[in-house]
Amino acid sequence: MQNHKRPPASLIFIFGGSGDLNFRKLSPALYNLFIDEWMPEKFSIVGIGRSKYSDDDYRKHLLDGIKQFSRRKDEQNGKWKEFSKGISYLQMDAEKDAEYKKIASIVKKKEQEFGEHPNVIFYMAVAPQLVPDIAKKLGPLNICSDTKCTRIVVEKPFGHDLQSAHDLNALLASMFDEKQIYRIDHYLGKETVQNLLALRFANALFEPIWNRNYIDHVQITAAETVGVEGRGGYYETSGALRDMVQNHILQLMCMIAMEAPVSFDADEIRNKKVDVLNAIRKITHEEVHQFAVRGQYGEGWMKGEKVPGYRQEKSVSPDSNIDTFAAVKFYIDNWRWQNVPFYVRTGKRLHDKTTTITIQFRPAPHYAFPPEAAETWRPNKLTISIQPEMDIRLRFQAKRPGQSMTLNPVDMKFSYKEAYNGDEPEAYETLLLDVMEGNATLFMRSDQVEAAWKIIMPILEAWQTRLPIDFPNYAPDSWGPEDAEALIARDGNNWATFATQ
Ligand code: BG6
Repeated sequence: MQNHKRPPASLIFIFGGSGDLNFRKLSPALYNLFIDEWMPEKFSIVGIGRSKYSDDDYRKHLLDGIKQFSRRKDEQNGKWKEFSKGISYLQMDAEKDAEYKKIASIVKKKEQEFGEHPNVIFYMAVAPQLVPDIAKKLGPLNICSDTKCTRIVVEKPFGHDLQSAHDLNALLASMFDEKQIYRIDHYLGKETVQNLLALRFANALFEPIWNRNYIDHVQITAAETVGVEGRGGYYETSGALRDMVQNHILQLMCMIAMEAPVSFDADEIRNKKVDVLNAIRKITHEEVHQFAVRGQYGEGWMKGEKVPGYRQEKSVSPDSNIDTFAAVKFYIDNWRWQNVPFYVRTGKRLHDKTTTITIQFRPAPHYAFPPEAAETWRPNKLTISIQPEMDIRLRFQAKRPGQSMTLNPVDMKFSYKEAYNGDEPEAYETLLLDVMEGNATLFMRSDQVEAAWKIIMPILEAWQTRLPIDFPNYAPDSWGPEDAEALIARDGNNWATFATQ
């Protein structure tokens, strides 16, 4: 039985209601929230799209998505039937101003039905180029001036570069108040990502050593085994740096590097994160080759299966110079992190699917043990696996049992699966619930987005000016181009290896 407070009555319009994001992520998330009794007592979800659907056909279509993609794939003893009563479909051409009257009249109708004014949430699950136009047409509706109850949710990519992100921010700001705008970065909704805050700020143990005096360097790897999965059209305008580093990876970096917040107030957390972004050392165009490496996968074999190279993927130009791999070395210029390298890398068609953060501590200052005791000695390391397994491991030295003093590294491990044997919510569940509750802590503020673009712009510009001469430069099922190894090896370090941990 539910023992938590549900969000207030909510009316959710999903632009792109017949699209993939809603099919795979949003409606399964809303359904799981319903099963866990987190949906408001009174709610209505209106999918908006151009395609023709009756309400019943639309519900069937969404159930199909749930059966394929939800963490709970069945109808849950009639729960689907109950939940789906709250779903309807609105066929409309989002490019025509007159059509927006339909939205206004649905809001009125629902207000009467609910007997109260609900939250009105506009979710932009559409191609990024459509967002400005839809926002312009929504803005003039009376309902949008309700800064308390009306919210707009914008998916990534938020802009294509600094200028377009700035323009989009300015446009949204002319229609909505900043506190009505929820810019999604789904990484921030992941359980383990949120747990980074708990790990750092709910324990007195780590904070005193969480700085340049004890930490040698930090690594973030976000590796995927998949290729571009039919999203070649989008990926051709993006690339790994834009798709993953500008948002997800920089956000992870903020969580690792931020100062302790005074409270869990949304702006307090976001201020602390933006401080990190502002302190990241800007890489000049001339330095890009020393700090950043790009790659593109060729054709080859992936776990025994022949896979095409990026240039052979659907909707990809045969001489494309888009990066499907990016590795960057960042520095954060502040007291805590001066001269501690943060190595980040991400790529498609890599050897493993894993998102992992590694905090490598400095070596012990003095070595009292005989050399033969410590042949396999390794520095302490804290490994935080975000996915697919969610765990935290602390590596330290232990004495091997036996008569001789031999040290070797061992792991102390906390595993989510072993500690809590329930299903954890998907990122989108957490984020959608936050939108309904009006909690913006896990969403990007306009200044955060722009600060993140400022960091990667010099790399993007340098890569655009100097075209790669060696693409494709890595094989599927590898860990990316050799230059990425050199990037970290130059400092005497190695990328963390996951299989052997
Ligand atoms: C998305 C990117 O934001 O994140 C995709 O556009 C990428 O290219 C995906 O595959 C990775 O998300 P996750 O949650 O699977 O790590």
